[in-house]
Amino acid sequence: MQNVIFSEDIQTKLSEALASVKHDRLFVLCDDVTVRLCWPLLRDLPCLQGTEPIVIRHGDTAKTLQTLADVWTALQAGKATRHSLMVNLGGGMVTDLGGFAASTFKRGLHYINIPTTLLAQVDASVGGKTGINFGGLKNEIGVFNEADAVLIDTLFLRTLDRENLLSGYAEMLKHGLISSREHLGELLATDCLDTVAAEGTLAALLATSVGVKQRIVEQDPHEQGLRKALNLGHTVGHAFESFAMEQGRPILHGYAVAFGLVCELYLSCVKCGFPTDVMRQIVSYIREHYGTLDYSCDDYPTLFRLMQHDKKNEGDTINFTLLADVGQLRLNQTASRQEIDEALDFLRDGL
Ligand code: GLY
Repeated sequence: MQNVIFSEDIQTKLSEALASVKHDRLFVLCDDVTVRLCWPLLRDLPCLQGTEPIVIRHGDTAKTLQTLADVWTALQAGKATRHSLMVNLGGGMVTDLGGFAASTFKRGLHYINIPTTLLAQVDASVGGKTGINFGGLKNEIGVFNEADAVLIDTLFLRTLDRENLLSGYAEMLKHGLISSREHLGELLATDCLDTVAAEGTLAALLATSVGVKQRIVEQDPHEQGLRKALNLGHTVGHAFESFAMEQGRPILHGYAVAFGLVCELYLSCVKCGFPTDVMRQIVSYIREHYGTLDYSCDDYPTLFRLMQHDKKNEGDTINFTLLADVGQLRLNQTASRQEIDEALDFLRDGL
């Protein structure tokens, strides 16, 4: 299983992690936000003395071939070798792009992720998916290659705004749904926004949540089967994310996933007998915390087209991960156009 380290003392844990991966040169990748907010928490470590971070622009629009080339150029200028080590300090964009840069430079150097957003801590930085956007499509080019270590510390979440916390929490709700009623119950009983004040609560929930992902990835690292469980909520969710982007009103990934979960739980009820009382609990949590997405039935053809372009599809059919109950996966499901329209109605019209 991937080495995921939960930290309450990031300086000590990072020193230990750096000592455990033999390397000749050390590189740190930040974006223009994490270099300001997160790097100061680490830079005084003796083992980081003399390390100048490589800084890229933040945000998904910078997850490009050009930014990747800039990182390769910096690695080349710093004389990186196959025995060098890169530390990616940032959200999912930094860990995805940095992981890809490290995996491809001289056919691969070592890397450690220090995710600084809840979304990256619970999902993006764990499990070895790396990559960049290309040709207008998200994460179109990339490789599977796990970081040597992932260091998770809730310290970094103190500066996150409400929306970014909720964005990460949507992936945690997904992990609850695909694992157990017990874990789902504790997530629903918790207001994620209160957990920042109570970091111990969040850290405990995070450890369970990341464990769900680690166990799945360990069994199916290249997404041949079981790993598709992690796609729950994402077939419709990715369509919402692209739709919102096309409309010039982008939404955070986790919000799109939360709305996608509502639609895909509806499909799970109709097609797989998922219990409606559990669905109602999730839907009210999502409504209360995430609000709604603004679209009308005139947008259904666009949303359907976007679902058809999902890279998880095989041939022309739209692939869904659904559930027969909490923790009971039904992989590789399809739905008719009418069922998908009903699911979109369900999110729009409410319970
Ligand atoms: N984010 C889903 C996965 O890592 O497979």
